[in-house]
Amino acid sequence: MGVRLMLRPSGRSAIFLLATMNVFPSFADAVSLKAVIAEREVLPNSVIPVHYRIDITPDAKGLTFKGSLEIDVIVRQATDKIVLNSADLVIENATLSGEKSALVISYDSKVQTATLVLSHTLRPGPYTVRLSYHGKVYQAASGLFALDYDTQNGKARALYTQFEVSEARRFMPCWDEPNRKATFQLNATVPAEQMTVSNMPIASTETLPLGLKRVHFGQTPRMSSYLLFFGVGDFERVHRTVDGVDVGVVVKRGDSAKATYALDAAAEILPYYEEYFGVRYPLPKLDLIAGPGESQYFGAMENWGAIFSFESVLLVDPKISSQEERRWVYTATAHEMAHQWFGDLVTMDWWDDIWLNEGFASWMETKVSNHFHPDWKPWLDVLRDKAKAMQLDARIGTHPIVQSIRDVQQAALAFDQITYLKGRAVIRMVEEYLGEDAFRGGVRAYIKAHQHGNTVTDDFWRALEHSSHAPVISVAHDFTLQAGVPLIRVSERAGAAHLSQEGFAYDESGAPSTSWRVPVAVSGDGDTQASWRGLVSRGNPRDVAIRGKALLIVNSGQSGYFRTLYNQNAIDRIVLAFAGMAPADQLGLLSDSSAMGYAGLEPLGDFLELARQLKPDMESLVLIDATRRLTALNDLYSGLSGQRAFKVFGRGVLNPLYAALGWSERPGEAQNVTRLRGEVLVALSKFDEPSVISEARIRFAKYLEDPSALTGDLRRNVLTIIAEHADAATWNQMHLLARSAGSALEKSKLYEYLGSAHDSGLAQGALELALSDEAPVTTRPAIVRATADFFPEAALDFAIAHYDALEGSIEPASRSRYVPSLAAKSNDLRVLGKLHSFAAEHIPEGARDDEVKAEANIRFSAKVRVERLPEVDRWLAIHGD
Ligand code: BES
Ligand code: ZN
Repeated sequence: MGVRLMLRPSGRSAIFLLATMNVFPSFADAVSLKAVIAEREVLPNSVIPVHYRIDITPDAKGLTFKGSLEIDVIVRQATDKIVLNSADLVIENATLSGEKSALVISYDSKVQTATLVLSHTLRPGPYTVRLSYHGKVYQAASGLFALDYDTQNGKARALYTQFEVSEARRFMPCWDEPNRKATFQLNATVPAEQMTVSNMPIASTETLPLGLKRVHFGQTPRMSSYLLFFGVGDFERVHRTVDGVDVGVVVKRGDSAKATYALDAAAEILPYYEEYFGVRYPLPKLDLIAGPGESQYFGAMENWGAIFSFESVLLVDPKISSQEERRWVYTATAHEMAHQWFGDLVTMDWWDDIWLNEGFASWMETKVSNHFHPDWKPWLDVLRDKAKAMQLDARIGTHPIVQSIRDVQQAALAFDQITYLKGRAVIRMVEEYLGEDAFRGGVRAYIKAHQHGNTVTDDFWRALEHSSHAPVISVAHDFTLQAGVPLIRVSERAGAAHLSQEGFAYDESGAPSTSWRVPVAVSGDGDTQASWRGLVSRGNPRDVAIRGKALLIVNSGQSGYFRTLYNQNAIDRIVLAFAGMAPADQLGLLSDSSAMGYAGLEPLGDFLELARQLKPDMESLVLIDATRRLTALNDLYSGLSGQRAFKVFGRGVLNPLYAALGWSERPGEAQNVTRLRGEVLVALSKFDEPSVISEARIRFAKYLEDPSALTGDLRRNVLTIIAEHADAATWNQMHLLARSAGSALEKSKLYEYLGSAHDSGLAQGALELALSDEAPVTTRPAIVRATADFFPEAALDFAIAHYDALEGSIEPASRSRYVPSLAAKSNDLRVLGKLHSFAAEHIPEGARDDEVKAEANIRFSAKVRVERLPEVDRWLAIHGD
């Protein structure tokens, strides 16, 4: 699951940041986006597509394919040329209905278009364009691509497609923009013994000579080109009818048993969504298709009726999958299924509003998880994600949720944590503000009104405002049209808490005068309900009566997207009351106290004080969060003399948890307890707890003799610890395991473990593996990424030195992200020069957002080390034992 973009830094360019501050002054809702829209790089509107008939013949072995295509179009304004998108395709022949001579073809590879030129001007009306062409099959997830894997009978190859954001144009010349919806009818000529899948069920099959067949898929409803899917290989399919929909999971032959978990999840989720959205699932079937391999860019994709996922996001192998991985399969399935309505049935007009797809699907995945699996406590779990978003949103490189996207390169960069995680947090806040029922009413009205069409964000807000009769648009605009994190400062005044609003930032990213109308909930300690709710903004600070309460919790329940800064008096009382507080508020306090500590607004010692209050019987998700925060601080300490004392402190906090949890899962224990055990064991090994490391070694030795000795979470915990602490002999043993791994799923994980060694010589050995042919193609960049966790600079140097060799195994869309993501882990300012010169050479100027974000991250870490850790050293000297 390391492959997800969500775990990575990413961003918006400095140029846009400036534009943002000029275009959106403090009250963003007063401003129109029109001026920016004019700059979009889009196809002319004179000709629009209505229907595509596509015939495709892949040559999997030769990594090429042939296509022939008929597009019914409407010419809306007289024109003498037809411009459509095309990338890496060779159009052999182009004709137009009613025209005798062939059209003249020219290409513009920079903007990825093909122009078909006529000898005269066409009159408006319906026409059919006919094209024959050929193209490439890639080895990374872009356009039509191949994934290779081992079987008992040798190597096998399956083909799949990935078109979002703008890769359908590598499969067929087309109007590759989300608002050019059309119907599609796909035909494919493939080996007779293989299975082929697309968005719609198969309508008919013809047998052809030479062991081939021609499959005709049914015609799709009107949809965007980025949602088309085609796959072919030696597959099998398990399925079940749910509410009249044929729901299936398509896997490599032999993997059906690993598909059960996802099929059950999909069957559980589908009826819930039909009811929530108030619209039936719009297609006759829904497949979830698993591909062996991974991507540096995404894990799963919501193609309409044919969701594609990498195996790690879809298959569950009871022997090796951990609880967290299972949960991820559920979440990813729920997320992509939510897009079947929100995204596929109703689609954003242009990439400016991609957050509406991704933020909403992220919110919905949590909503449905909470409905069916309340014991997972999904809303508590995603408070960590909100904290991640606030981290990014308080640094240079952040951007408003709704942004102005000029071209598809920028669109590809818009899939970041602001879009996903801030997006979800803001939707959650709005739902809480309006109430569940009014919110759902708005969603239903929105889907109903816009089905099969395209929308902008304000269509959604208007539907909510209409159904709730509450002024939601102004609040929503404050959080979506301006970047940054509000801060609510609490001060005490004669029997009242005074709440005032400022901005929170770690660097110069925050515009000091920004105002938000922040929905704030306040509770007295011990209360389960908020005792005060209201909007607080810069111009409207509020006083809340304390009435006999020892202290007030601001952002009670933590559904607000803002940070809280308490006065020192309140903090002292919070520390005393911490262990008894509601888990959500404990999580909020851990998050706020560490953020304030890093920003220098409060001593980091306050966070450490809270960490000292942890007890084994507290909520597991709170303990997981605190454990991760301690680990992050330990990473920042790496190589500094104070680290020893910090590790002593960390062990002091974590060892009691270890003592309570032990190594093995207890029958019937909650999933979050199992997760916590893994977090604590792995963290303690990083804090050099000798008993944990030696026990892991013993268990690993047993595992080598008997592979059934380690399964599920225990297996993952032991392998993670062993890999990080490996000596040469252990590393070689793991290498053998990786080479001989039976399944693709297991194989790529084992290779990534090799990259996590903390011995620099072994890490170098892992890097070398990324260049050899022994690891699967898509695993190669993942090994380098694994190495970057502990050795960012070595990984960066390596990726730069061997970029030519690695480039082909990274999708074109993530090439502007991959190298910055390696550098981002560093805390050394010297890395910046290397990153900049790489970017200058390899990343187009308009696509450097991730470089900007990586730089902000590096500067943040470097600054914390110099400015904040000495204060922690002093705190530890006084309080540590
Ligand atoms: N639409 C995205 C996949 C995607 C992301 C395509 C970026 C192109 C660029 C999909 O719905 C998605 O969000 N996938 C997530 C997994 C999800 C469970 C959060 C991913 O792949 O990380
Ligand atoms: Zn998504």
